[in-house]
Amino acid sequence: MINKVNKILITGGAGYIGSHVAEKLVKTKCKIVIVDNLQRGSRKLINKKTNFIKADINNTKKLRQIILKKKIDTIIHLASFASVAESQKFKKRYYLNNVIGTQKLLQACKNTNIKNFIYSSSCSIYGNVKGKVSETKKPNPKSYYAFTKYKSENLIKNFSKKYKFKYVILRYFNVAGASNSGKIGEIGNRNDRLIKNLAIQFFKRMAKINIHGTNYKTKDGTCIRDYIHVSDIADIHNMCIGYLNKNFKSNTFNCGYEKGYSVLEISNIFKKLKKNTIIKFGKRRPGDVGQVFANSSKFKKIFKWKPKYNDIKKILYSSIKWEKKLNHL
Ligand SMILES: NC(=O)c1ccc[n+]([C@@H]2O[C@H](COP(=O)([O-])OP(=O)(O)OC[C@H]3O[C@@H](n4cnc5c(N)ncnc54)[C@H](O)[C@@H]3O)[C@@H](O)[C@H]2O)c1
Repeated sequence: MINKVNKILITGGAGYIGSHVAEKLVKTKCKIVIVDNLQRGSRKLINKKTNFIKADINNTKKLRQIILKKKIDTIIHLASFASVAESQKFKKRYYLNNVIGTQKLLQACKNTNIKNFIYSSSCSIYGNVKGKVSETKKPNPKSYYAFTKYKSENLIKNFSKKYKFKYVILRYFNVAGASNSGKIGEIGNRNDRLIKNLAIQFFKRMAKINIHGTNYKTKDGTCIRDYIHVSDIADIHNMCIGYLNKNFKSNTFNCGYEKGYSVLEISNIFKKLKKNTIIKFGKRRPGDVGQVFANSSKFKKIFKWKPKYNDIKKILYSSIKWEKKLNHL
């Protein structure tokens, strides 16, 4: 946990995960600055106790001014486009925003007070892996999105040597759910994210679930993923700042619950909550891998971490609860 007064810049802090990280960190003594271009996020998600600056991470000059003026020592970098399906269609857009954007942000750190850099990477960089995957597994990105996350990891590692800051790369598995505060959650109509889509479907007269791909080499032929509650992800950032402050070495951690659920299993859990649900089976989506779930023993060992929200039903309920609120905002 943090016991120093860090000055933290969160890129993408108006987005889904960024707003949860901000909500957690404003409870510490740290000063929080959020930078977001609001292309995908929302002003409604921006924590009022933070200092929000509308800017794009590609704007090195502006980012550098912010880092210097606000005496930022820690960057939590979440700003990126984050859809596998979209990345397959718009490769250039993803490259410019995710890879070049990260590079421009890193360039803004030159000769500043930046000591810590935390990056939101993704389990997608591993590709398809049978059994729990640990951080030592050689990355094998299968989608363009995964490629951009992997490229960005390497940029961060190189720049950290050049500019002498320490980094933590967090490889999130599938992040889902919403804060207990009821104030923030996932916005929009992202039907490419299973739990978010189920929450949307819950409020339709007749719920429809499209399962993409039934012939993967998994127990029931549908994709297997490891779903982690966004509040546990937010806590992890808090812990990592404390870790970096204590001068531990740079590191890469998986963030997952070490349990894989198939899309069909989760759809069946949902069907028990909403009886009039139709499950349709369709073709595979480009870029999707059959299975990936975490070996998180490294994080557990170093931080003595015990997840607080590792219950798939609770994750689903919290998403539905937020969706209800969102429909009334
Ligand atoms: N949601 C998941 O399951 C998941 C899993 C693994 C990794 N991640 C990573 O976590 C991060 C956050 O994901 P999220 O789900 O909160 O997505 P999100 O789209 O809700 O949030 C991303 C935020 O970044 C902002 N942004 C994007 N490009 C920007 C730019 N060039 N300049 C400034 N702001 C910009 C958007 O406006 C948005 O507010 C991403 O880096 C994503 O790749 C997410």
